[in-house]
Amino acid sequence: MSTSSRGACLADFGHDVVCVDILEERIRGLERGEIPFYEPGLDSLVTKNVRDERLRFTTSLAEGMRNAQVVFIAVQTPQSSSGEADLTYVMEVGKQIGALLDDYKVICTKSTVPVGTARRLAKVIRDAQKKPVDFDMASNPEFLREGSSIEDFMRPDRVVIGTEAAPAEHLMREIYRPLFLLDTPIVHCPRIETAELIKYACNSFLATKISFINQVASLAEKVGADITQVAKAMGLDRRIGGKFLHAGLGFGGSCFPKDTQALVRIGEEHGEPISIVAAAIEVNAGLPARAFAKARKLVGDPRGKVVALLGLSFKPNTDDIRQAGSLELTRLLLEAGATVRAHDPVAMPGFRKVYPDLQYCKNAYETCEGADLAVLVTEWNQYRQLDLNHLGEIMRGKAFLDCRNVYNDERLTEYGFAYACFGRPRVRDGEVVS
Ligand code: UGA
Repeated sequence: MSTSSRGACLADFGHDVVCVDILEERIRGLERGEIPFYEPGLDSLVTKNVRDERLRFTTSLAEGMRNAQVVFIAVQTPQSSSGEADLTYVMEVGKQIGALLDDYKVICTKSTVPVGTARRLAKVIRDAQKKPVDFDMASNPEFLREGSSIEDFMRPDRVVIGTEAAPAEHLMREIYRPLFLLDTPIVHCPRIETAELIKYACNSFLATKISFINQVASLAEKVGADITQVAKAMGLDRRIGGKFLHAGLGFGGSCFPKDTQALVRIGEEHGEPISIVAAAIEVNAGLPARAFAKARKLVGDPRGKVVALLGLSFKPNTDDIRQAGSLELTRLLLEAGATVRAHDPVAMPGFRKVYPDLQYCKNAYETCEGADLAVLVTEWNQYRQLDLNHLGEIMRGKAFLDCRNVYNDERLTEYGFAYACFGRPRVRDGEVVS
């Protein structure tokens, strides 16, 4: 989630918020209410809070920090080539904060950072101080999903605050006071490392849940079971819960792939391998190839075939394509000699930068025109009710690969399509046929 989203939400809580970014162009755009990425509802929240003078934007850290009681560090922590989080930006901003500190403030990390970072950062800040001013560290990980980050911020399941100092705990609780009305549990961790580990544990657990169901989905195909029913029944057990049990193309995005790798690295560094998460990463990495194998089974050798990809973003309601399964699937299809046509409601500009030569289309139907195979890659709502009759008429072949289990075999067969999905084998006269 971006600084502007968090800033707008905190301002909406009634706080005075100044968002700082080094990119002049981005800041000027935000002042005009222009959001540099797609996030439902964010533009109106920014506009409203700017108008009400609770939200400002600047490129000057000094100005941003002037009257602040809490400074949130939310810079990016990209993944380094060895899998761990790259803390260059975090530490650099720490130095600048240290040099500017002239009264007591809480310095709080919001970016997902390896366990132990807040303590290291405190030293960086202290070393950069021009005069000895008191400050406290806090860690306040967040659990927001792209595409629904505002709702997640405003109605969180819990708020985690790691800090060892009473004044910092008090200030952080004050920030989240509006959530008391919703009875939101606040988990205060007197060891800051606990808060840092919670974030990795949550993301890695959810990612593992997805890989678990994907692996069971492969087995379901072999034994003739239906994974959607397996997942539903599992989810009805309140100890398991129904969320994050959708089988398909697996997890992508800027968080799960990065955080799972980082947790594995942290474990290795401390001589405590987190092998279960390493296995989840491996399962996930194999899913685009599984989708490709299913495509091959539907249409044979992809050479000379036209494939229509519906959805490119790593999930619906975002233009983010980072680590999206669509990237690897496209690579495999192109390598095998297929012609790829594609559509996504918002992610095409980003995808075009990686694959400039695909045939990008206006909508699902244009994409499927003349195609041998339609592949539902991302479950955007607009692909959920396709006119299958029309689709059958405009396509060259009638094959449909459903990477998100949105449709079902009975329905697609009724319209004359060869259909494949994940974890729901085709059954004819009580026998599994594929
Ligand atoms: C994730 C977490 O859900 C947030 O709690 C966390 O704050 C965020 O990372 C972060 O660390 O910033 P996000 O990456 O936006 O949020 O997306 P999710 O909705 O969690 O989906 C992640 C991926 O898993 C997507 O590719 C989605 O298609 C896939 N997924 C999700 C499945 O394949 N199956 C499921 O059942 C659920």
